Amino acid sequence: MKIGILGATGYTGMEIIRILAKHPNAEVVYLTSKNFDSQIISDINPHLYGYSEVILENLDIKKAVSMCDVIFSTLPSGYSFEIANLIQGTQKKLIDLGSDFRFDDFEVYKKWYKVDNEINYELYNRVYGLTELYREEVQKAQIIGNPGCYPTSIILGLIPVLKNKLIDTKNIIIDSKSGISGAGHEPKFANLFSECNENVKPYNVNKHRHIPEIEQELSKYGSETHVIFTPQMVPMTRGILSTMYCQLTNEIDIKDIYDLYSEYYNNDYFIRILKPGLYPTTKSVYGSNFCHIGFELDKKSNMLIIMSVIDNLVKGASGQAVQNMNVMLGLSENKGLDLVPVFP
Ligand SMILES: NC(=O)c1ccc[n+]([C@@H]2O[C@H](COP(=O)([O-])OP(=O)(O)OC[C@H]3O[C@@H](n4cnc5c(N)ncnc54)[C@H](OP(=O)(O)O)[C@@H]3O)[C@@H](O)[C@H]2O)c1
Repeated sequence: MKIGILGATGYTGMEIIRILAKHPNAEVVYLTSKNFDSQIISDINPHLYGYSEVILENLDIKKAVSMCDVIFSTLPSGYSFEIANLIQGTQKKLIDLGSDFRFDDFEVYKKWYKVDNEINYELYNRVYGLTELYREEVQKAQIIGNPGCYPTSIILGLIPVLKNKLIDTKNIIIDSKSGISGAGHEPKFANLFSECNENVKPYNVNKHRHIPEIEQELSKYGSETHVIFTPQMVPMTRGILSTMYCQLTNEIDIKDIYDLYSEYYNNDYFIRILKPGLYPTTKSVYGSNFCHIGFELDKKSNMLIIMSVIDNLVKGASGQAVQNMNVMLGLSENKGLDLVPVFP
């Protein structure tokens, strides 16, 4: 498969190149950059030395479509619609790591992402690409709206209890901590070393753009779900820890929760459920496509505490994108993705 990555120099773009460097069915042939065109990708990102010598080009969507079988886009909101229109009627696939195709309702997307064009979502064969939830739909789709990083960690952590109607869906409290690579490679004052180091920063509390995406997916299991969401930036490069506080509707033992999750994710290679008493840490999934989930109970309040960790650049972005590509192409889901986490 000939692969194009639009926005190849950013954190998620270069992570796709890293993963595909060891993928037996993928050849990366077209890479774009706004600031580094005409330069060799491995001169810009030297960890790719010897793995990719492709010369970066200015964005040319028509060229990408003519050269590639699979296009990954990491471009800002709004760019994917042109790609989607050009691949209509072909066998080519688009995996968008941005938000353009994540929503069921275009009006919700428009409101949160402040896009002013009008798109008829019905025209596209697309799916929200949380692979574990939509595997069958991903297989048939031409376009993937690859999920956001926080939503991936949160939805995977909550689905089993929601599907089994074990928690009150009215007010789920979510505390998420993310490494700084979650903000991308564009320079911003807030991301300077002296501002982030030895600092934990809440931001966009209860107004983060991932809220509608999280609520959209969690609300599909009976009743409308409301989340209270506090994202925080912590001084590490990669990783997300999401902790969800949920009111149980009945008394339940922690062992039963563990059994329920183990059973639910039994056939999902990338989801690992931790035994009661063990808690997930971001470092235990670093550089890998795994999601680790653990639990604790507060018997006094009958609250369940669910902890879910991912690497934001892998399961939270590029790893899940390649996982989706594998499923779309009928390949083994973990091809190129069996990355053992880096520790310590
Ligand atoms: N970072 C994460 O953890 C993460 C996780 C999940 C999803 N996402 C989503 O994935 C997307 C990419 O994130 P990222 O962190 O990789 O961002 P990033 O590091 O800022 O990279 C963005 C890429 O897009 C290119 N680009 C930006 N504006 C462009 C324009 N106007 N025209 C052409 N190219 C342009 C940049 O090119 P140059 O800089 O080379 O010019 C760069 O290669 C975003 O939608 C983000 O929300 C990110």
